[in-house]
Formats: sequence, structure tokens, C-alpha cells
Amino acid sequence: MAANSEADISEAQIAVHWKEEPLIDPPASFIAQANMKDKQIWDRFAEKNFPECYKEYADMLSWDQPWKTTLDTSKPPFWKWFVGGKINASYNCVDRHLAKYKNKAALIWVPEPEDEAIQTITYQELYKRVNEFALLLKEFAGLSKGDRITFHLPMIPELPISMLACARLGIIHNQVFGGFSAKACAERMEDSKSHVLVTVDGYYRNGQLIDKKKEADITVEEAKKLGIDVKKVLVWRRHPGKYVSQSPMVEGRDFFVDEVVKPFRGKTVAPVSMDSEDPLFLMYTSGSTGRPKGAQHRTGGYLAYVTGTSKYVQDIHPEDVYWCFADIGWITGHSYIVYGPLALAATSVMYEGVPLYPDAGRPWRIAERLGVNIFHTAPTTIRMLRKAGPDEPAKYNYHFKSMTTVGEPIEPETWRWYYNTVGKKDAAITDTWWQTENGGFLCSTLPALAPMKAGSAGPGVPGIYPIIYDENGVEVPAGQGKAGNICIRNPWPGIMQTIWGDPDRFVKVYYAKYNKNKDSKDWRDWPYFAGDGAVLALDGYFRILGRVDDVIKVAGHRLGTKELENAVLTTPQVAEAAAIAMLDELRGHVPVVYVALKPGIAPSKELEETIKANVVTALGPIARPKSVYIVPDLPKTRSGKIMRRVLASISDRKDYGDVTTLANPDIVETIRKQVQTG
Ligand code: WT7
Repeated sequence: MAANSEADISEAQIAVHWKEEPLIDPPASFIAQANMKDKQIWDRFAEKNFPECYKEYADMLSWDQPWKTTLDTSKPPFWKWFVGGKINASYNCVDRHLAKYKNKAALIWVPEPEDEAIQTITYQELYKRVNEFALLLKEFAGLSKGDRITFHLPMIPELPISMLACARLGIIHNQVFGGFSAKACAERMEDSKSHVLVTVDGYYRNGQLIDKKKEADITVEEAKKLGIDVKKVLVWRRHPGKYVSQSPMVEGRDFFVDEVVKPFRGKTVAPVSMDSEDPLFLMYTSGSTGRPKGAQHRTGGYLAYVTGTSKYVQDIHPEDVYWCFADIGWITGHSYIVYGPLALAATSVMYEGVPLYPDAGRPWRIAERLGVNIFHTAPTTIRMLRKAGPDEPAKYNYHFKSMTTVGEPIEPETWRWYYNTVGKKDAAITDTWWQTENGGFLCSTLPALAPMKAGSAGPGVPGIYPIIYDENGVEVPAGQGKAGNICIRNPWPGIMQTIWGDPDRFVKVYYAKYNKNKDSKDWRDWPYFAGDGAVLALDGYFRILGRVDDVIKVAGHRLGTKELENAVLTTPQVAEAAAIAMLDELRGHVPVVYVALKPGIAPSKELEETIKANVVTALGPIARPKSVYIVPDLPKTRSGKIMRRVLASISDRKDYGDVTTLANPDIVETIRKQVQTG
């Protein structure tokens, strides 16, 4: 059979062409004060000093017992870091700062309603609240080291408090992003076998008071169907003492935290000394199959990695006011709102709401009011703020020394607005490329040591050795404008330990592709496959092109096309579904769904709406398809593979290429007409 030209090109090879962007030097004022301005760092973290170089990060922490082996490679690719060491993450983020910084703000929480008072939580107050909740988890909920607990919490200070309380006792927390549905939360409870759910009665989003407790009731019901008996639902109250949910509290199951915490007021519990390799938390993320995977992160290595990168890449000093405008339900928030900044005794700002509430000046008012000097957010937020208020930043008197972008590629256009207008041409920018699985940054410039380049993430950060391979495992050299699969040649302390409960999938997804010898105990034989296409310029800067697998990024959030398709297929009328990512001016990409119906079923607007609603129920509002197209048939290769790329080209109004070798080539033109003229 003739080779199918469309199906045979690897995703990574579809390189886009762009013009090289000029290098821009970070401001001298930034460089003068930077934590890391010593070029020697490249030598210290060079391959010849690997893995011992990572002692520099681990030494930023307080260990109960020093580690014996920096990196244990005896069971690849299940690396072990700082083996033999004992440490507690809660102690490192809270207790150890009390002597010097007790009275300093640890968290500053900005409620969405602008007339509601901002809350400042000092390290002393954080210490008390973490201890009280930890005692509640231990004594009231009966949880101990190694147990899992699930949170379905929005951006309220009780979220980091709950995380740090778990970390204190070695309870493995599993925060499910607030934009995921109750059903998605139940699936994650089932996978992690958690029997306690932590939620809140309500919170503000875009001017609305959202009833969150109602979702918890559905979560419990759905979990039950999956065989999980949720024993306790712990309900924080957005306004303690006042219940804002419509959902009744279930006797013996649901408890208000502000009530059941009373016996523990003012009491403390000693942090449990954890093995460096004990898991700290799970973070579920999407992959190529329908089943989300629980990235399992370790205690010692993870904490060392996020602390080191927060200090050197984010340039966080204790006196900084640092605002990462992301959600803690996302790995960015775990690493760079909670664990990294707090380990460094910084002041970490949290905002409850959406960027444009009540108007496009809100983030800049927050920055001005709190004196934020480090700002960190995603391209989708930057695009949104630019579109709604291109001139707003100039109206406010704040000064950022540095800014970060994360989560998806940033177009040079958007980068320039970030630099010129938001940063007022006086802030260093880091474009940080990494993933849920990685714990912390993989590529970024060190802002005082290297110039910036719009749209490029930069080289690997210290101790990370990236490489681009083609499909056959041959290195794609720099400066050829040729794309390939970006991989990391070495292990690092922030890499996940495994996929919770599925070690085989861990090996298969991230290591099988480029492993040279499965019996090798040499880390050099186990490059980590990230699943992103990238191009390497001559100057060593990587430009990330996006996912090469069936993962799509919607406003920076990660969704699996299989998960979306499974959600669509919960609609009984649907026979087949294909989910694709369509280019979107603001959100980068949005999901679009193509479906073929079962015989005898007529298409209708109503059915399209039902399908959208079913996706929201299964996955959550972030997954709502922008459009649902009911088509006569889906384009397929002769082997039956649905050609999602052809559908994506149609949605993006691009040339869909040569489709003559498909099993049903004529359908492509029919669909194109329907979509582009309909
Ligand atoms: C995927 C991982 C890591 C925190 C947030 C996302 C994309 C991430 C960048 C960047 C271009 C980026 C990649 C990656 N991505 N950062 N700076 N430039 N693309 O975590 O949800 O696990 O998603 O986000 O495609 O694989 P995540």
C-alpha cells in the first residue's frame, strides 16, 4: 500500500517557520541585585559534576538527617534522590522561618470582591493554622503518613494551609483543579484511594458566588459508583461562621472545619521526619489515554528542586513580594506559589478571582497596592489583559523587577507587550518551560546571566541537559531550523517518582521511546521524553512548539483528546468522536469536537448543546468545546486512524494537505464546506 503521506509525518516535524528574534539584555538594576549572577554556576552544574551539583539546592533546606547518596540509579528509570536523608516540607516552609520572620507576611490573599479586606497571614499565623488543621486531620479525620486525601479547593488561603498541614504529617495531598468537575474529582479520588474530601462552601469567580459544596455532594455520589466510600467531607467556610451553600450538610459525613478545629486551637503537632523519597503529593494530569495519570512527587528532591529554581530563576529573596497569578490546582501553584517561595521565606500573593474582574486594571491595582515586584503568569492571561486593557498597566504605579511566563508557547507579539507595557521595559522576563511531571523548570534563562529572546524558553536551567531527537533517536543539531522531540538526557531531583499505581505506564510514556538498553543502570541510557516538539537555535535557546501527542493545551490547561472524546461518547446518540485543538486568539487553543451519529439519528442544534453539556459534566467547564460539528463521517486512514490533524486544519482554515490516500477522502471536502461556510 502506498505510504500515507499525512499520517506518516511525525507531529514534531511539522515545524513552523519564524524569524529569529533579537536578544534583549535584562535591566542592569535587576542584575545588580540578582541571587544568581555568577557565571561559574554553569561549571558547577556541568555534566562532569552531575549529580553532586544538586547538593547546592538541597543545602538550601533544613534536613533532619543528611542524605547518604545523592542519586541512586539502581532501578532505572525510578531514580531516587538524596537517599537516606530525612526532612519535612512543612517545617521547611513554615517552622524554620519563625526565628527570623515570624512577623513577616507569608501569604497575602486578595479576595475577588474589591471591597472585601485583603488578608495577610504571617509566618506565625501560618504556623498556627497549619498545626491546627494538621491536628484535625490526625485526630478528627484519623489520617496518618502515607494516606491520601483529596482537595477540591479554589484559590483561598485554606488551600496552602491544607497542603502544608498534610506535609507536616506525611499525608499525601491530591488537589484537584477547581475547573474540573465533581465527576473528574471522584475519578481522582478513586484512583488515589482517598476517603476524605476537603472543600469549601463557596467562593467568588467573575463576580458570582459559586456554590462549591454542591459539587462535593456529586463527588461523593460519583465516588460511590466507583467503589469509594467518602467517609468525611471537611468544609471550610469562605466566611467562617456563615454558610453560603444551598447544599445541606450531611450528618456524620460533612463537617465545618471552623467548628471541628476548635479542640485543636493553639495546639501544635511535631512535623514527621519523612524519608527523602516519601511521596509529598499527587497531581493528576492528562495524557494520551482517557485515564488521567497521578504524577507522584517525592519530598526531598522535589522540595530541593523548587527551592533552588525559585531562588535562581525566579530570583526570589525573602524581602520580595512575589505574585504568581496561577491556580494552585496546577503544578505551577504547588511549586511556585506554595513550596518554592515559602521555603525561601518569601511573601507569596494569592488572588481568588479572574484577571478581568471587575476590569482589566485589576491585576495592576493589586500589584500597586501590595508592592508586588515579581510577577508570574501564563500567556493566556497576558493575552486577555492585553486585549481588554492594552493601556491599563501604565495607569498604575508598580514596579516589577522580574516576570515569568509559563504554560504554553508565548508569541513574540504578546511577549513584547508583556515586556514593554506590563514590565515597563524595566523587568527581566523568564519564559519557563516544564510540565506537571517535572516538579520545576526545565528550560529558562537565568535572568542575570543571559539575554532574553521573545518566544524562546532559553537553554536548560542548571543541571538540566536537554537534547532534540528525531523519530529514530538521532540528535537534531542546533541551528538547522529542524524540529524534533525535546528530551532531557539526565534525571533531576524534581522529576516525578512514578505514576501513582501504574509504574509500567511511567516507563512506557516517558522513557521507552528513547531508551537504548532496558537493563542499563546508567542514567545516560534513559533520556526523558517530554512529548513536546522543539527547535534549537545556534545560541542554545530552545523554542517550544507544543505537544506532539494527543494532549491539548486550552488556556494553558492540559486536556487529553481521548478524555474529551470519552466525555462526548457519554452522549448515547454519538457513534464516533474526534476532539481537536483549534487556534484561538486569547486562549492559545480551544477544544472543538467532530462527531458522527449512530444510524437513524438526525443532527440538531439541541444535540450539539447536549454534547457540550455532557463534556462539562464529565470533565468540567475548562473542557467545554467551542463548537461541536455533527458530520456524516470522520476522515480516516485505511488502517482506521481518525485524522485529527486534517480536522484541525479545517477548523483553523488552513490547507489540509494531501488526503488522497485516506479511506474516505471525499468526506474531507464535505466537512470543510460544512465548517467553513456553515
Ligand atoms: C505542557 C505541560 C509546567 C507548568 C504548567 C504546565 C506546555 C509549558 C511552556 C512554555 C511553551 C510550554 C508544554 C508542556 N508548556 N510551559 N514556557 N513554553 N510551552 O504544565 O499542564 O503539565 O503542561 O505545557 O506543551 O508539555 P502542564
